[in-house]
Amino acid sequence: SILCSFVLTTSGARYPSFGTLQTSTSAGVIDVVINNTFSEINIFDFHVMADLANLLELLQSNGTDSDSPLPQFDPFNPDMIFPDALMWNITQLPQATVAVIEGRARGIGNEFLMACDMRFALDSPNVLVGQLENSLGAVPGAGGALYLTNLIGRGRTLEYVLSSADVDAATAARLGWVNAAFDTPSKLHGYVRTLAERIALFPLAGIAGTKQGVNAVSRPPRDVFVRDSQNVILSLEALPETRELNNKVFAATNN
Ligand SMILES: *[C@@H]1O[C@H](CO)[C@@H](O)[C@H](O)[C@H]1NC(C)=O
Ligand SMILES: *[C@@H]1O[C@H](CO)[C@@H](O)[C@H](O)[C@H]1NC(C)=O
Ligand SMILES: *[C@@H]1O[C@H](CO)[C@@H](O)[C@H](O)[C@H]1NC(C)=O
Repeated sequence: SILCSFVLTTSGARYPSFGTLQTSTSAGVIDVVINNTFSEINIFDFHVMADLANLLELLQSNGTDSDSPLPQFDPFNPDMIFPDALMWNITQLPQATVAVIEGRARGIGNEFLMACDMRFALDSPNVLVGQLENSLGAVPGAGGALYLTNLIGRGRTLEYVLSSADVDAATAARLGWVNAAFDTPSKLHGYVRTLAERIALFPLAGIAGTKQGVNAVSRPPRDVFVRDSQNVILSLEALPETRELNNKVFAATNN
């Protein structure tokens, strides 16, 4: 599972709406466990995306619209077809976001990790990060490879993304793909909780301002990001070889 700690100044989450996120708030930190019970393997699907989009809306409004009766996003919202709006919006949050990785986060799972501000992993054989799309004749979307270039460099990004490699937590930590890896869940959660609670002590305006500056030098331009997330994928998905590989994967994995 991936846990994302959003450092908050408000409480009172009215979500989850589709049941894929479990949230709890204390000491200015909201813990959000991605636990998609529609799926045996906690897949990052349209339900998760809609739940995250609704949570973001709450965080963006800083608690000011918490009386709104209905969530804005559902899995059929046109904004859910491509993940770029959701992933971009995560990077735009004034709050700090910290991802905790205790399972596999590949493809869109890793793209979500890239959109968070920081990443910490459990050093366990269950933990793998990666972008597998090249093996299917496609490309990582939602900035997966673009952010990675900034984190681990051009050469290593191409090494791991072109080979569609699975990367374990210790390697990811050595490369800078994740900030650090911990050998027990209690060390991992303890470190992240202390970090998040400390950040939550400080005024949100300063956190938001710092993030704006860091985003300005570390985030791809919006048009490059959207092109990477939509146009490139659409043109590659139309190729016969890509379609054939995708169909094989869906058959082999029982969709
Ligand atoms: C996910 O939700 C299910 C059903 O509520 C629960 O049994 C399971 O413990 C949860 N998993 C995590 C990692 O929270
Ligand atoms: C968010 O709300 C808190 C508490 O009401 C307030 O102190 C803070 O300035 C607000 N921040 C922003 C960015 O609006
Ligand atoms: C992203 O944020 C924009 C601007 O606030 C909003 O219009 C859009 O609906 C959001 N989309 C998602 C998926 O969060």
